[in-house]
Amino acid sequence: MRFEQEFIERVRESTNLIDLISQYVQLRRTGSNYQGLCPFHGEKSPSFSVSEEKQVYHCFGCKASGNALTFVQQYQGLTFPEAIEYVAKRAGIELPVSTSPKKNDERTLQLKVNAYAAQFYHDQLMQQPKDSQVWIYLKGRALSEKLITEHKLGFAPDHWTALTALLERQKVPLQVAEALGLIKRRKEKEGHYDLFRNRLMFPIFSPSGQCLGFGGRVLDKEQSPKYLNSPDSGVFHKGQVFYGLNHSAKFVRTSDEVILVEGYMDWLALVGAGIENVVATLGTAFTADHVKLIKRYTQKVLVLFDGDSAGKAAALRAMPILLEGGVHARGLFLPNEQDPDDFLRQHGAEILKTQVEQAPDLFDVVLNERWLHAKGSAPGKVELLDEFSPVIAGIPDGRLRALYQDRLTRLVDVPSHLVKQSVKAVKPGGQRPQAPEKPIEVNSQTVQTPDAAPTPRVFDLSRASKTEIEFLNVILFREVYLKEALESSVANEFADPGARALFQRVSEVYRQMPSKFDNLSALLANEVRPVETITRHLSEPYVSLDSDSGVKLVRDCLKRIRENHLRLQSKELVSNLRSSSAAQSAEQMEQLMNIHRDRRSLNRGS
Ligand code: UTP
Ligand code: MN
Repeated sequence: MRFEQEFIERVRESTNLIDLISQYVQLRRTGSNYQGLCPFHGEKSPSFSVSEEKQVYHCFGCKASGNALTFVQQYQGLTFPEAIEYVAKRAGIELPVSTSPKKNDERTLQLKVNAYAAQFYHDQLMQQPKDSQVWIYLKGRALSEKLITEHKLGFAPDHWTALTALLERQKVPLQVAEALGLIKRRKEKEGHYDLFRNRLMFPIFSPSGQCLGFGGRVLDKEQSPKYLNSPDSGVFHKGQVFYGLNHSAKFVRTSDEVILVEGYMDWLALVGAGIENVVATLGTAFTADHVKLIKRYTQKVLVLFDGDSAGKAAALRAMPILLEGGVHARGLFLPNEQDPDDFLRQHGAEILKTQVEQAPDLFDVVLNERWLHAKGSAPGKVELLDEFSPVIAGIPDGRLRALYQDRLTRLVDVPSHLVKQSVKAVKPGGQRPQAPEKPIEVNSQTVQTPDAAPTPRVFDLSRASKTEIEFLNVILFREVYLKEALESSVANEFADPGARALFQRVSEVYRQMPSKFDNLSALLANEVRPVETITRHLSEPYVSLDSDSGVKLVRDCLKRIRENHLRLQSKELVSNLRSSSAAQSAEQMEQLMNIHRDRRSLNRGS
C-alpha cells in the first residue's frame, strides 16, 4: 500500500511518542525529556531519551533513534507501510482506500477469518475437560497453561464439520475459509469439511500480531502426517514467516542474536525455559526471504536444529543461504540426536544456555561434520572442496571469506593454492556480489509487502563532518538558533552535500510553517540517514545548554563551517591556477586574495 506524504504525517502526529514508548519502556521525566532503559540494546543505566516536545527518541548508547513510525518499525520489525498501518490503527485513523481495493479487502477478510478460527480453536481447547486426550498430551509435554494461553494454542475437535458449521452459522463467506485452507470442498457431495481435525493447533502470527496460518499436530501416534500446516495463501507464505517471531522480536533485538529452531515444540520449550530470542521455521526449507526477515532485527543467527541426520542436513542447506545473506551464523548440534525440547528436559535451561553461548561458527560445525564423513581420503577431500568452495565464494564480506577459506585449508589439510583455485573457479551465479550487503534501511521494502512504499527523499549525512552535524542539531534544538542560522550565509557553505540539502529542507519547511518548529525533528526522522545524526540534541550537552552558550555554539559552528568552506575554496583555486592561462590566473589570484581576506577577518572577529 502506498501512502501519501500528508497521510503519513497525519498518522505520525496522531500518536504521542511518550504514550507509545511507555507501552514497552518505563520512562522517567528528567528536565525537558524523558529517559529510560533502551529497548534496542541491553543496558543497566538509562541512555535512551525521548522528547515529548519534538516527538523523537535517541539512544546515545546504541544510536537507535527516530520518531513514532521508526519506533514501531524497529521495535516490532515492521516495514514502513506496516508501521503506518499499525500506528494508524492504534490511533483509530482509517486507512485510505488502497489503489487496488479488491486485493486489500480480500486480505483483510482473510486475516479476520484466520483470527476467528484461532479464537475458535483456542476456546475449544479451554473448554475441553482436563482429563481429555489433548490436555493429557499437553501435560505430558510439560506445556504450562501460561504458555498455552499466551501463545493461543488451540484444539481442532475430532469432528468433520466443527469449524465449517460455525462459519456457516456466523455467515462467514466459506470461500474465504477455503482459500485459507481451513476448510475443503467435498468431492462427491455438497458442502465443506474441516481440514484440521483432532489436532493440537499452533496459530502462526505476523510480527504485528495478525494470524497468518496454522500448524496442527496429531495427538495419536498412528495418525499422519504428524504436523499439518495451512497451505500457502494470500496471507501465508511458509518461506517468509517464522513461528514465534511476534513474541520473540523484542528479545532478538535486545540480545542481538536469533536462535533458529525447527519446530513449534522446540520454540515453546525454549521460550518456556526463559530463552526467548527464538524463532522456528515451519518445517519447510530455510530461504533467502527468511534471512531478510531476520536482518530486520539482528545480523546474528544461531542455528539450533535437531541433532539427527535430518536436522544436520537442514543446517547444511541453511548455511550457504545464511552466509550469502551476510549474517554471522553460529551452529549447535545437540548430542544423541536430541532436539532442543528433549535436551531441555534432560539437562535444563542453564546447560543449554552455556552450550548456546559457546557455540562455534556454523561454518566450522558443518565443516567438521562433513570432514568426519570424508575420512581424510583424497577423493573425500576433493568432495569437500567442491562442497564448500561455492559457500565461501558466496560470502559477501571479503574478510570473512578469507578467514573461512583459511579454516577449510587447514582442516582438510591440502595446499592452500588448491583451495584458492577451487573457490576462484566457482561460476558467477553461484557467486554473490562482492560488496557487503547494506543493513536494512528504515524505509526499505521487505519481503512481506509487495506493494511499493513511498520513497521519501533521503538526506545522507553519513559523511558529514562533526561540525556540520553539531550545527544541524543545535538549530533543530531551539527555534532561536535556527533563526540565527537562517540569517547567515551558511546555506551555501556546507561542505557535505547531504547536510546542505537538509539545511535547505529545514529552511523551506520552517518558512512554510514557523509555528511547527517542534515538529521538524520528527518529520525529518523519515528522511535522514542515519537518523541518529539529527536526534543528538535530545541528549547532553544540548539539553543543558543555556541560552548564552547556545548562541555561542551556533556562532562557533557557523564560523567553523565558513572557515572550512573558504579553505576548500582556496585549495581548489590554487590547484586550478596551475592549469590556467595568464588572464584566468589574474582573476583567480584576485579571488584567492579575497578569500584570504575573508579568512583573516573571520579569525579576527572571534
Ligand atoms: P519434528 O518432527 O522435529 O517435530 O519436525 P517437533 O517440532 O520436534 O515436534 P514433536 O516434538 O515431535 O512434537 C520439525 C518441524 O517440521 C514440521 C513442523 O513445523 C515441525 O515443528 N513438520 C514436521 C511438518 O510440517 N510436517 C510433519 O509431518 C513433520
Ligand atoms: Mn521434537
